[in-house]
Amino acid sequence: MSFHPAIPYGTPAWHKSERKLAEPGPPFEFTPENRRHVEDHASHYPAERRKSAVIGALYVAQAQQGYISGNAMRHVAEVIGCSTAEVEDVVSYYVMFFTQPVGKYVLQVCRTLSCALRGAGRVTEEIQKELGIHVGETDPTGTFTLMEMECLGACDRAPVVMVNNEHWHECLQPGQVAEFLRALRERGVESLGGCHHVRE
Ligand code: FES
Repeated sequence: MSFHPAIPYGTPAWHKSERKLAEPGPPFEFTPENRRHVEDHASHYPAERRKSAVIGALYVAQAQQGYISGNAMRHVAEVIGCSTAEVEDVVSYYVMFFTQPVGKYVLQVCRTLSCALRGAGRVTEEIQKELGIHVGETDPTGTFTLMEMECLGACDRAPVVMVNNEHWHECLQPGQVAEFLRALRERGVESLGGCHHVRE
């Protein structure tokens, strides 16, 4: 029995991966400081479990390059000692990793029930209109990338927008989007309103 409604099990099409491989991008290697950081993180795991450090290494790679290119995945695989395919599996599974260059601020609008009922769809529409982009795109100035996300864990303060995986803006009502974007442009993440921030 096939698990895919259209592709019979065992046929060549069944075995063909549909996954789009990341663009190689520029050459990538950890800076000496970042390499030390990755090794320090990996040292917390037993040697035979070194692969467990792959997520930490990917965070470092993304902080260094702004996103995770194919070359960054290859380098992480070499450093951690696993296959590039294993790194790709992790990158493609977790939404906090970006495989394309992104803007200075990545806006992730929650679209799950509480936020949807409180107007998240209209917030997304207003952001698209203000920036002249669609979900998944970056504005021409390279300042904002827009994404939609599932529950961000602050449902009682819907609608919620997460910025750069680390900062939350809560209770963002439709009609407040232009001001929200202006404040972010001018004052950065300090302008965000919310109590679910990850403290540095
Ligand atoms: S539904 Fe939006 S934060 Fe939970």
